Formats: sequence, structure tokens, C-alpha cells
Amino acid sequence: LHADQLLIDDHNRLRDLLGRLEATSCDDANQRRQLLNELTRELSVHVRLEDELFYPAVRNVSPLIAISLSEHRQIDDRFAAALRTDPTSPRFAIELSALKAQLDQHAGEEEREMFPQAQALGEAKLEALGQQMQARQQQLRRSKLARFRVALKREILRHT
Ligand SMILES: [Fe+2]
Ligand SMILES: [Fe+2]
Repeated sequence: LHADQLLIDDHNRLRDLLGRLEATSCDDANQRRQLLNELTRELSVHVRLEDELFYPAVRNVSPLIAISLSEHRQIDDRFAAALRTDPTSPRFAIELSALKAQLDQHAGEEEREMFPQAQALGEAKLEALGQQMQARQQQLRRSKLARFRVALKREILRHT
């Protein structure tokens, strides 16, 4: 699995989760919380894979790394705003669509611009990087400590 394909699969999973969240209503507070929890986990693993492995590997072939890193911080802020919003309030849908717009824009930019630039690394490197990222992804998903950290941050945001 090439590194960029792994990230595209992630993007599609994130898009799917956001779509499911958008389909919920104010009466589904529990489902909203549950889907947001899932999104928190998926997004945090995805962003770590990019920040720690993919971006450093492509920094010499893509001029977009600096801006993309700053977009990750903006997404993090948006996400925090969504977590802080009462899922039974009408504002929740507004926060959600702002988050979705930002994520779509960022992921689209990666897919249309950065990933094509990354092809300059060559087949073999993209494949090796993909394997490394897949191993790290499984490790982060299984890690109790990583999951605990993400959950703790999420609950702190929800209660501040
Ligand atoms: Fe990204
Ligand atoms: Fe991404």
C-alpha cells in the first residue's frame, strides 16, 4: 500500500464519519457524541501519521508542508470548538459544517496537490513509507496510552 493511498483511505473514512454526523439531529445527542468520539480518534491518528511520518518524508519534494502543518492546527481548533458545542443545540450543525468545509478543503489540497508532488519520491519509497505508516497506524490504534491521551483531551475540551 502506497503512503498516499493509505492517507486517501483515511480521508474517505473521515468524510464518511462527518457525513454520518451531519445526518444526525439535535435529538440524537448520544449518537452525535459517539460519532464525534470516533472522529476524534480517527483524526488524531491520521494527523499524527502525517505530522510524524508523511510530511517529513515529502518535505523535499512538496512546498506545501509548512502551510499544511498550520492547517492541521486550524483543524484542531475547529475540532475543539465542535467538541465544546452542546450537541443538542442548533449551533452544533453550524460548527460541524465549518469543520467539514475546512477538512474537505485541506484533504482536497493534499490529494490534488501534495500527493501528486509526493510521487517524485518514487514507487519503492512510497511503498516502504506506506508500510511504516500502516504499522504506526495499527500501533496508535491499539495503544491504550495514545487512546487515553486523546480521550482525556477530548473530555477536557468538552468540559471547559
Ligand atoms: Fe493533513
Ligand atoms: Fe490528510
